[in-house]
Amino acid sequence: MEYPVEQIRCQFPALASGDVYFDGPGGTQVPQAVIDAVASYYSQANANEHGLFPSSRRSDAIIAQSRTAMADFINARSGQEIVFGANMTNLTMQLARALGRTLKVGDEIVVSRLDHDANIAPWLFLHDNGIVIRWLEIDPTDCTLKLDRLDKIINRKTRIVAVGLASNAFGTINDAAQIVAAAKKAGALTFLDAVHFAPHRPIDVQLLDCDFLACSPYKFYGPHAGVLYGRQEALERVQPYKVRPASDRAPDCFETGTKNHEGIAGVAAAIDFLAGLGRDCGKEHGRCAAAYPEGRRRWLKAAMAAITVHEMRLFSRLLAGLQSIAGLRLYGITDSERFSARTPTACFTLPGSAPAIVAEKLGAAGINVWHGNYYALEPMKFLGLEEKGGAVRAGLCLYNTEDEVDRFLAALRQIAVD
Ligand SMILES: Cc1ncc(COP(=O)(O)O)c(C=O)c1O
Repeated sequence: MEYPVEQIRCQFPALASGDVYFDGPGGTQVPQAVIDAVASYYSQANANEHGLFPSSRRSDAIIAQSRTAMADFINARSGQEIVFGANMTNLTMQLARALGRTLKVGDEIVVSRLDHDANIAPWLFLHDNGIVIRWLEIDPTDCTLKLDRLDKIINRKTRIVAVGLASNAFGTINDAAQIVAAAKKAGALTFLDAVHFAPHRPIDVQLLDCDFLACSPYKFYGPHAGVLYGRQEALERVQPYKVRPASDRAPDCFETGTKNHEGIAGVAAAIDFLAGLGRDCGKEHGRCAAAYPEGRRRWLKAAMAAITVHEMRLFSRLLAGLQSIAGLRLYGITDSERFSARTPTACFTLPGSAPAIVAEKLGAAGINVWHGNYYALEPMKFLGLEEKGGAVRAGLCLYNTEDEVDRFLAALRQIAVD
């Protein structure tokens, strides 16, 4: 059965503009259900937390529902393992600072050269406290992580291993299972950056067996917010910096100050939107809702499976088109046999055209793409792209179509010959 792309697109008011949104890795558009959930929070439950009056109780209930929805999205054990924050960067800074209190001079933290700076800089700050930072390096041929020396880099001095599940620059999906296994063998804590991975593949924190994982709902059709998952015992081991009257119990003690309640209300709506897609796709594949007895978690799995097939089919078309443009340089995995190790995010440079110029010309043609380093500073420096203005990034997501890929390629071909 066909992936219902037109039915999906109708739910996203922003797409009615006719613009092409290939800027998903920087943030996706939101469906009407998310907009409604945010608006309805204001009209029906706008209050601060834990009051003994009706609107505060309604607000508490909405936040609790969003924690449960997030737990379903990443297969956490319960909503109590979900911390909400302003964004992933903020939560990671906060966690790194709190974990730093538990470390001593000479302890080691392993980070990855492939990562967004939000999963590097917070750990680098701990170097000032005498913590040694070790790096997993990049293989420049396909922008994957070199894991051949993993057992040396992660060793008995390692206390924390912080790596991304997928690169927001090149789309590379890292072998998290291998990295987490090595970290556990060394007795180190694991922190996974799932921001770029989350819109494209299912996340299962129990299967990953990680201690912490962070992601950002605005990358998977929700509002601007951040989420930190912590395995309950791991959260309980950390003493976050907090104001004194705030709760001492996780997850509340990690949520400094008043949260973005309306945004959190929209998080559950984004997850329910995805679950609804899974339920519909499941039915379309002849597996009626009864085949998903656990409800939302099962539908989310079905949704992510359908999204992956749709996105990677479109990505094949995008890749073939990009490869046909003379001189265009692509970064990342291009072998379709290895598509399970990448997301549908293309990173490229055009000879003789600065990335900013390419992005600007595409923008003028109604095609939204990012250029520069997208905060993936280390990999851009490593590849020698930083001083040349970075690269252009075209990222596909669940609402993109073949027509949009063709429109993008036609515009890019024109820019290449101008
Ligand atoms: C892979 C990755 N990690 C972290 C971040 C930072 O997320 P946030 O904007 O929620 O701080 C981003 C944002 O682009 C990202 O792509």
